[in-house]
Amino acid sequence: MLNRLLVRILMTAVSVFTLVSSAAAEGEVTNKRVLEESATGENWFLKGGNFRGEHFSPLSQINDENVADLGLAWALDLPIPDGISATPIVVDGVIYLSGAFSIVYAIDAADGRVNWSFDPDVRQAFADDPGLSWTARVNRGVAVWDGMVLVTTADCRLIGLDAATGGERWSQQTCDTQLGYAITDSPYVGGGKVFVGNAGSESGDKNRGYVSAYDVQSGEMLWRFYTVPSDKPEENTSPAMKMAAATWSGDALEKFGGGGSNWNEMTYDPESNLLFFGTAGALPYVYQYRSPDGGDNLFTSSILAVNAESGEYVWHYQTVPEDSWEYNATMNIILADLRIDDEDRKTLLVAPKNGFQYVLDRLTGELLSAEKYAKVNWATHINLETGRPVYDVQGEFWNRADEHTVAIWPNMWGAHSWQPMAWHPGHELLYIPVLDVPSVVSDYDDGDYKDTLELFTEVDGESFSPGKLIAFDPVQHVTRWTVEHPLPFNGGVLATAGNLVFQGNAQGRIAAFAAGTGEEKWSLATGSGITAAPVSYAIDDTQYILIPIGSGGGIQFVYPQLGATNESQGPTRLLAFSLDGGSEFPSIERAARTLPEQPELVASAEVVANGKHLYASSCGGCHGKDASARFGGSVPDLRYSSADTHAAWHGIVIGGARRANGMPAFSQLDAEQSEAIRNYVLSQSAALRSSADSR
Ligand code: HEC
Repeated sequence: MLNRLLVRILMTAVSVFTLVSSAAAEGEVTNKRVLEESATGENWFLKGGNFRGEHFSPLSQINDENVADLGLAWALDLPIPDGISATPIVVDGVIYLSGAFSIVYAIDAADGRVNWSFDPDVRQAFADDPGLSWTARVNRGVAVWDGMVLVTTADCRLIGLDAATGGERWSQQTCDTQLGYAITDSPYVGGGKVFVGNAGSESGDKNRGYVSAYDVQSGEMLWRFYTVPSDKPEENTSPAMKMAAATWSGDALEKFGGGGSNWNEMTYDPESNLLFFGTAGALPYVYQYRSPDGGDNLFTSSILAVNAESGEYVWHYQTVPEDSWEYNATMNIILADLRIDDEDRKTLLVAPKNGFQYVLDRLTGELLSAEKYAKVNWATHINLETGRPVYDVQGEFWNRADEHTVAIWPNMWGAHSWQPMAWHPGHELLYIPVLDVPSVVSDYDDGDYKDTLELFTEVDGESFSPGKLIAFDPVQHVTRWTVEHPLPFNGGVLATAGNLVFQGNAQGRIAAFAAGTGEEKWSLATGSGITAAPVSYAIDDTQYILIPIGSGGGIQFVYPQLGATNESQGPTRLLAFSLDGGSEFPSIERAARTLPEQPELVASAEVVANGKHLYASSCGGCHGKDASARFGGSVPDLRYSSADTHAAWHGIVIGGARRANGMPAFSQLDAEQSEAIRNYVLSQSAALRSSADSR
């Protein structure tokens, strides 16, 4: 305690000094500062809070005894219709975060006033490549380093901004959208470098995953590490690529590029000078089609460690060697020093989509344990000798094609996805936002998943609660406590030294739980669904809890109905809470929705059924399942289309009249198909009209 006080006094002295000596030094994040000041908790320097990626605040002014007294310090409405998935960064009283279209905001952390904003104009890319329309609406935040704010864009740019003004200092094209690449994740920083991955393993284009490092100040590229081999043998010259190339058979590399992208999360460790990150799977999903003559398809669905200075391979651990379930391992990585079997180990903790929580030695990649944290039926266990999963026939949907439906646990969206888990170093517990539902595979055929992206909360008469927050002990391998949520896809997590765990949920409720027991200590209905992770910081000895509300992330476009209740469809906002906060909670104004005049539905049931089928494959990913897009989001709910829109339908859908706004041209559809979709949409409007609840 005394130590912390001393550090605090010292730090106050240091910050006063910095203020006097160079008032312009904004966004001043360095290895030294992160290492020396993380213990004070005044700043939230990195996405994971500190170099260990813990999502833990050492502040304890707000604690399990007084959290019920939290009040709103300030609120800021942000013009981001698609919500927030970013974890904010807080440096010396300034919050940095980004939302849809990679628009960056610098906000005064004391009062919520916007200092500057920066718009990289991603929309201009839509006209050329409307496929980016979807990814551009998701952006998981910025990184701050040495006076610079780093942001990525859907159209593959990595941009360096002046932290004081938001002015663009440099921009690099870090991937090629023509090859199916895009970026939704934030960049990561450390040691004067900015590290960036990309997405696109499932684009169907020739997509080969990689991670690149750039110099923060100049934007110069320093190295690039490919996560899978090239289809051209002569290009696989490094030892890592030679090793990887020997693990592929068939023509998947040539056809689809091997995937394995790092579309989410990295952790830089200054102590070992290693950069850790996970990778996604590859196409075709089913292993037998992807690699018919065997091989582990390195480095897909793996955790990798590379030298942060040179980008050279150091070790890998593959979570799913014969992945047929798209179980990405790109979830956030936490570094913890743990006592395991009477030995002090420097470990790396990760809970990938596949439902196992892994403890690895972070210096060597040695597997120390892997235990289930959610329901799993694709593997019985992980063999600790070989490090490999022992597959379960339950999960082999391709061999069970005669069964009408096959339930695979976890779901293809993952038992844990990009919403960050947190670590409490005192309790030695991981707090994982879990999605505990299966994929239900039906009509399986030709290596393709069908109907798997449904979210089933009931299978064979058994129902279960889809969303959970669990406290998992990675040493004893037990779940200490569980909180159930009514909806799937809940928020990221913050743990604090105040013996608290904060998490928002899809219904828009933010809550604080006792870190040891899970007992709810405080909660508040915010009016907007929550997917981002809260953070904490302090200004003038006041601790704040900061939470972005407004559900962000790609899922909401597909499943808007998950948040379609009045209690979760509010605006995108930043809320800052403190013990002496006394601001009034801002009201939520929701425009009443009424269906406009529309043409009559005259098409046959057969045409409508065909339209439904076409809609599901071409339109549902943006306009929502059942044609019900998120209320207030940037993609319109087609059920409310006006008579004028219906009259202009084919011009919009086939002709591309709204391309510039991110509505792709579907020139592959003919007028009859477009008309069938229109009639299906009309049938959904009619259903809405006749239902008592027309929102
Ligand atoms: C990549 C995302 C995406 C996909 C896929 C998509 N749309 Fe759109 N659509 C949009 C966006 C964004 C808009 C809003 C454009 C604007 O603001 O002008 C839009 C607008 C529309 C509109 C105009 C609605 C109105 O009320 O003004 C129609 C009609 C439409 N889409 C139909 C379709 C159909 C039919 C499909 C499938 C064949 C489809 N869209 C697929 C993103 C998408």
